[in-house]
Amino acid sequence: MLVLGVESSCDETAVALVRDGREIVASTVLSQVDAHRPFGGVVPDLAAREHVRNLAPVLDSVLRAAGAARPDAVAVTDSPGLQAALLTGIAGAEGIALAYGVPLVGVNHVEAHLTAPFLAAGEWPRHPFISLVVSGGHTHLFHSRSAGDHRLLGATIDDAAGEAFDKVAKMLGLGFPGGPALQRAAADGNPQAFRFKRPLLGPQSLDFSFSGLKTAVLYTCFGQETDGRPRRQLPEGMRAADVAASFQATVVDVLVEKARRAVEQTGIQRLAVGGGVACNGPLRAGLTVAAAQHGWELLLAPPALCGDNAAMVAARGFELLRSGLGRAPKVSPRTTWPRESAAPTP
Ligand code: KG4
Ligand code: ZN
Repeated sequence: MLVLGVESSCDETAVALVRDGREIVASTVLSQVDAHRPFGGVVPDLAAREHVRNLAPVLDSVLRAAGAARPDAVAVTDSPGLQAALLTGIAGAEGIALAYGVPLVGVNHVEAHLTAPFLAAGEWPRHPFISLVVSGGHTHLFHSRSAGDHRLLGATIDDAAGEAFDKVAKMLGLGFPGGPALQRAAADGNPQAFRFKRPLLGPQSLDFSFSGLKTAVLYTCFGQETDGRPRRQLPEGMRAADVAASFQATVVDVLVEKARRAVEQTGIQRLAVGGGVACNGPLRAGLTVAAAQHGWELLLAPPALCGDNAAMVAARGFELLRSGLGRAPKVSPRTTWPRESAAPTP
């Protein structure tokens, strides 16, 4: 079965064709990063306009790359995300499904991220597994029990890890998007230059908190003006690279430790990791070392499938159809997976 995936939940317009949920036939991701850069972050209405402009050319490039292949179903991200952005993808996907006369299935973006590591390995998700989704909107740990049952084990109580990367990068003047820029700057820095407190929220907790860390960076490095406003320049002799490396090391330590706890508390030794922050080199290295040390099976999405893409949406759509869980797209005003809910498929 060939599933055509459509992704437009944030600032990437993406279309892909995936065969049997395991083989990527064609995939295109068009990033809007240049359009949003002048604003230092994603502007929702601008994102929607860009999706409208880009969806047809992206679809065209995928269909051309796939030759004569015709989809048997269409899968589209319907939540969580920026509502106006989601609606553009859903409207487009409805048109495509209608034109081909094939079913349309709605996909949860977070569930698509946790499918990506398996797609990369050329296989279907093997349950049960622990999944860590680390992105600009999510830092969520799940116990994935079956295709339709992802139990939330822990989540950020404030900023997502990617959001913290973006904000600290902005503070340090490293540019947008912040995560990759911060990683590049950190490569030249000393991760032990500053000892930021690891926000672990108690010995058992699987929740995350990055907002205090962000404030700690702000006050350690920038201090305050006499009127209480934060100073905007690093003091003489302090290097942005050292701050970036120390911040990054703190986030990595926390993510690896929480993943370790989740595996220990559930006894499930298989960990799947996806989302944009999973591109981060030191995080990948930290997880790889921990997996080797503790004997976990680690499925890390490759960088091309960590950030937003439509191949993971198509693969998740296939999984839903195969499991009899396919449903029509339903837009929800939620921008993230709800913390309060442990229910499957919010
Ligand atoms: O999954 P994604 O593309 O979009 C969301 O669903 O949010 O993730 C984007 C996030 C951004 O916050 C970005 O700064 C972060 O992933 N990111 C990184 C790296 N590459 C992307 N964070 C740290 N290190 C990276 N190399
Ligand atoms: Zn995402």
